[in-house]
Amino acid sequence: MTVKIAASILNADFARLGEQVHELEAAGVDMIHADVMDGHFVRNISFGPAVVAAVRRCSSLPLDVHLMISEPDAYLADFVRAGADGVTVHVESCPDPRHTVAEIRRLGVRPGITLSPPTPVERVADLLDAVDLVLVMTVHPGFGGQPFEEDTLPKIATLREWLGRRGAHAEIQVDGGINAGTAPRVVAVGATNLVVGSAIFRHPRGIREAVEEIRRAVGT
Ligand code: DX5
Ligand code: ZN
Repeated sequence: MTVKIAASILNADFARLGEQVHELEAAGVDMIHADVMDGHFVRNISFGPAVVAAVRRCSSLPLDVHLMISEPDAYLADFVRAGADGVTVHVESCPDPRHTVAEIRRLGVRPGITLSPPTPVERVADLLDAVDLVLVMTVHPGFGGQPFEEDTLPKIATLREWLGRRGAHAEIQVDGGINAGTAPRVVAVGATNLVVGSAIFRHPRGIREAVEEIRRAVGT
């Protein structure tokens, strides 16, 4: 199975974001992952639709928007208009997650659902047929550069089993602390889409070498 790399721009140099996105493209990442944080659902504030639209203008790669915000329903259309190809919402932030993912699909993009490390995987069980992507957070959402949380591995394995049993085709994405060491471990239990932030942007030999290192580690 091919494993995709979604590069998180949270740790990019925002003063030259366009160049950094071009470097990611040249390094062969599969998608760009945009982490939207509101200082309310999570402690940190990152960026909103204007930055997503700027990324859209400088890349044709799929643009994967991860909303770590309260009341995501109020902002879905803004991010779709900004050029998102997929929008992922937290099950913890949606009063009616089934309605939210249906709305994302109605707006014409790929719906994703995600859950933070303390949230039991059962919370997304009923949504697996309604989404194109399930994101298992492998750190607490809010900041890049945190260490991978080991006890999220069984959640990935459970989701892989449930998806298989139901013949559902959602991708399993992981996000947080993914690097050449942790990538093979999440892939071994069923992840097919790896969000990678600091392992790409803080690699001593640069973006291209970082992406190659992860690809080598998972054999994709
Ligand atoms: C964390 C974000 C991540 C983060 C990943 O809340 O959702 O996408 O940027 O960064 P690393 O790879 O540094 O853990
Ligand atoms: Zn993310």
